[in-house]
Amino acid sequence: MIRVNGLTKVYGSGDAAVHALRGVDLEIPEGDFVAIMGPSGSGKSTFLSILGCLERPSSGDYYLDGRDVNSLEDDELADLRNKKLGFVFQSFNLLPRHNVLRNVEMPLIYAGVPSDERRKRAQELLEQVGLGHRLTHKPAELSGGEQQRVAIARALANNPLVIFADEPTGNLDTKSSLEIMEIFQQMHRAGRTIVLVTHEPDIAAYARRVIHFRDGKIVREETK
Ligand SMILES: Nc1ncnc2c1ncn2[C@@H]1O[C@H](COP(=O)(O)OP(=O)(O)OP(=O)(O)O)[C@@H](O)[C@H]1O
Ligand SMILES: [Mg+2]
Repeated sequence: MIRVNGLTKVYGSGDAAVHALRGVDLEIPEGDFVAIMGPSGSGKSTFLSILGCLERPSSGDYYLDGRDVNSLEDDELADLRNKKLGFVFQSFNLLPRHNVLRNVEMPLIYAGVPSDERRKRAQELLEQVGLGHRLTHKPAELSGGEQQRVAIARALANNPLVIFADEPTGNLDTKSSLEIMEIFQQMHRAGRTIVLVTHEPDIAAYARRVIHFRDGKIVREETK
């Protein structure tokens, strides 16, 4: 599903150059559930952004679903990102002026799905995350945990190959964090591929593999 070799990322140049990734090799088979841990600044978010095709590496190979990602043009990359990948962020990133249903429909609108079909799909996804009773609420009218559940429903809208989550429980209390992780657990059981960054060992414990980063490199891996 995912294979990277010798991946590097350098921000800036000359004396100001920051070597965020210094040669990362990793394979993630379909259906895997991977947690990425490591100190602040160790390159976790950079790595996730590259896997999620939000950024390009400075060097190294990246194959996603059999495709050489580096060789894709920007519009092909955007297309891959919109149609095949799902994202969940610490800050939820919902559109504040749109209601919950509309937020989840958004990726389907970009994908050109007809309105009846996308409404039905968005509603089903919101029911799956336990928010069938909140369809017309605005994001600000929801708790943090509920907002993150909307973000997860939105990430699932296009039935993505992989879900990338960067500290999805970082802004949540313990109870909401556990509810969110139960949802990731269910997605994993249903066969979804998940790559999740977290600082918390309790959260990482839900994953099948835990990869530890330090100074832009993988230094250790644990597998269940
Ligand atoms: N857009 C950027 N421009 C310049 N430097 C950057 C940029 N993004 C990240 N960096 C630098 O790259 C390094 C890795 O950053 P990254 O955000 O990947 O760390 P992280 O492991 O996610 O940290 P945290 O746990 O604090 O989120 C850091 O030194 C950071 O300052
Ligand atoms: Mg980060």
